[in-house]
Amino acid sequence: MACREAGRRRTFAVISHPDAGKSTLTEALALHARVINEAGAVHGKAGRRGVTSDWMAMERQRGISVTSAALQFEYRDVVLNLLDTPGHADFSEDTYRVLSAVDCAIMLLDAAKGLEPQTLKLFDVCRHRGLPVITFINKWDRPGREALDLLDEIEQRLGITPTPITWPVGIAGHFEGLIDRRDEGSAIRFSRTAGGATAAGEERIPVTESLKAEMSGLEHALEEIDLLDHIGADHDTETFLAGASTPVFFGAAVSNIGVRLLLDAVIDLAPAPTARLTGDGEAVPLDAAFSGLVFKIQANMDPAHRDRIAFVRVCSGVFERGMMLTHVATGRPFATKYAHAMFGRERTSVERAYPGDIVGLVNAGALHPGDTLTQGESIQYPPMPIFAPEHFATVRTTDPSRSKQFRRGVAQLEAEGVVQVLVSDRRGGQSPVLAAVGPMQFEVALHRLQHEFSAPVVLEMLPYKLARLTDDAGEQWLAQARGVEVLTRVRDGELLALFTDDYRLGSIRREAPEVKLESLVAQVA
Ligand code: G4P
Repeated sequence: MACREAGRRRTFAVISHPDAGKSTLTEALALHARVINEAGAVHGKAGRRGVTSDWMAMERQRGISVTSAALQFEYRDVVLNLLDTPGHADFSEDTYRVLSAVDCAIMLLDAAKGLEPQTLKLFDVCRHRGLPVITFINKWDRPGREALDLLDEIEQRLGITPTPITWPVGIAGHFEGLIDRRDEGSAIRFSRTAGGATAAGEERIPVTESLKAEMSGLEHALEEIDLLDHIGADHDTETFLAGASTPVFFGAAVSNIGVRLLLDAVIDLAPAPTARLTGDGEAVPLDAAFSGLVFKIQANMDPAHRDRIAFVRVCSGVFERGMMLTHVATGRPFATKYAHAMFGRERTSVERAYPGDIVGLVNAGALHPGDTLTQGESIQYPPMPIFAPEHFATVRTTDPSRSKQFRRGVAQLEAEGVVQVLVSDRRGGQSPVLAAVGPMQFEVALHRLQHEFSAPVVLEMLPYKLARLTDDAGEQWLAQARGVEVLTRVRDGELLALFTDDYRLGSIRREAPEVKLESLVAQVA
């Protein structure tokens, strides 16, 4: 049962630089799959129907998305699980966690901009995780770069072979249609719909001389396709699944052009869930007993439900609401009476879920990203890496009567992985050190402490820029050194030595080579 259902699942995420059109594409995909009647129901962009929680308001103002929503929709008898990734580099740890729960990624590019800094970083995470990547070149309705030039950039900068499946007729800004390279004898013409609110009509027309006269870019598109045929830029399943080639699609998400072809590709090309490896390298068969990976914790997503949800990817077996699970990290039982599917901000109860599906478990107080839940087996999926922080600040409440709420808030943010929390005897519990990969994490933390926990806080930036792992002996030695401070990371109890700059680190290394100063997990994204 689990195997059969897993076979009709596709679990994927869209990665892109902010503004490339991720929200628009997500809505267009969902629209094609007929889960929503009106574009705009998913992400709540300004002016559309939307999210309302306090700090989501902040996300909206800043044009960032921190709240990972998981959308599920059915299309061609396949269940698609689309996971949202945060839109900003500062949340790369979150993005990494989300990408650990998918089987494929769509890399979305703006036709005018090609690969942008955030696309490159996110692609690196996909490469690191060995994820197959499908490329969608968006905004072809607006002036942009040449198609061949964009392919060249993908090949040169990412080192993977682009294999276009569709090809645009007309240059960017003069979008006349598409050619499906699997059916080169015809061209696809689209009829636009007002504001992209409904799926675009599409018509396949045989290529004839009169069509060439009608579509001014057709002749040139066919020449370019000849060139692609000649250099052998054809889709290849093996290299795609190995992350060495990427099928490429062109379109305009805002008018739903090319979106259906992309959706079909997710079903036809992207892999269904397969047996996952545990931390010990053992493959857990899809039809084994239930096991799931917690990849994200999110509190207070909706002010109407002030609770804490763990997003769990089903890795094996069948999830049934109400089943009693084991939290492998602590050996404690975990009840699943409240299990939800999330659709944007709306929740519905989930009765059953299969490998590839995402379940939102309520009352997830004891769970952390990277945890494994099972039906009793002691298997454990690989832990999530904690990225090397590069920004440090102390935080304290200015209202002593709110110190209990303040402490609870800090513990909550720590557990969710919003920021890392570092403590030391010297600093005491009143003003812990927050550590982040990107400074915007501090803004989220601050906002949430103030709004959710009603604790007025002040944040003071510390001058440190680097962190290295050390040990007790190292801590003792470093206690007398200048420009360095050692603190304990709450998450894993590791001792972190913080340095103001490379120069300090280098001089201590030379002076005391015996002191342990190990690099932390590099920031992959
Ligand atoms: P993001 O989630 O990746 O940040 O991007 P989002 O979908 O919000 O899109 C960013 C902008 O790009 C939006 O315009 C959106 O309408 C536009 N866009 C998305 N896809 C296409 C496309 O295929 N063609 C064209 N021409 N534009 C596209 P905006 O003006 O910032 O917002 P809005 O008021 O239109 O929503």
